Amino acid sequence: MSYPDKVYLNGSIVNSADAKVSVFDRGFIFGDGLYEVMVQINGRFFYEKEHLDRLQSGLQKINIKFDVSLLKNEIATLLKVAALTDKDCMLYIQITRGVAPRQHSFPADIKPTVMMYAVPKVLPEINTVNAHVITRKDFRWSRCDIKMTSLLGNVMLNEEAMQHECYETILHRDGVFTEASHSNLFFIKDGVVYTHPADEYILNGITRIVVIELCHSLGIEIVETPISLAELNTIDEAFLTGTSTQIAAIQQIDDYILYTRNEKGPVTQRLQEAFLKIK
Ligand code: PDD
Repeated sequence: MSYPDKVYLNGSIVNSADAKVSVFDRGFIFGDGLYEVMVQINGRFFYEKEHLDRLQSGLQKINIKFDVSLLKNEIATLLKVAALTDKDCMLYIQITRGVAPRQHSFPADIKPTVMMYAVPKVLPEINTVNAHVITRKDFRWSRCDIKMTSLLGNVMLNEEAMQHECYETILHRDGVFTEASHSNLFFIKDGVVYTHPADEYILNGITRIVVIELCHSLGIEIVETPISLAELNTIDEAFLTGTSTQIAAIQQIDDYILYTRNEKGPVTQRLQEAFLKIK
């Protein structure tokens, strides 16, 4: 991973070394801001409208006034300057509440800080990972539907996976699985796909929404009902979804082995192939 040469900051595109944000920015002080990540594949952002709509609705939830549609032209310019127009790449967008003297409540007239960058990123056609994951208590706050920049909980939980040489940490709250530290979580049991409902305990991933649509179009039964910890040893398959994860099969959950070697469950495989087609 390397830094991009150029970043977009508050209306200008500058060398990243020259991009300056105040130390009193509420994003820095409080993590008071949102972000979005999307990928361009074959010259088009994958589900761009859905990503930008989620950002807009998140801003409304936390009362930051900013019109995300203004970014459309800025994104095109940024890609041009970064020599990434039509190239496969990842775009990061961050909008924080802006700069103000440190105080929890915020002034009404504060101007948001907007930062974006793009880096080359070519996703594999199908994610060939057969992930090993660990399970942990979901100790994050209870507004996980807000894609906020304050990701300390997710960072700590993901770091534990890395310490265990695992791909992800899957999380449970009140006895049921919610999502993972940076992806959504699906289970398959007797041919039926299960995932946690899109309430305040998970981020409603765009890839999650795409996979649910794919299940409908393929005639695979999908229910937005969580799987409990007690049911874990009855499941047949499991996978993770996310913008760069796409669909990643889970091979092992703690000590529970779903497949040996490089096998993959039939439903996971069908969804991965269907996902590849819509890209
Ligand atoms: N992560 N759940 C969490 C907690 C996430 O952080 C993400 C995405 C997802 C999947 O969302 P989507 O399919 O829209 O990418 C679910 C991003 C990509 C990140 O933090 O880098």
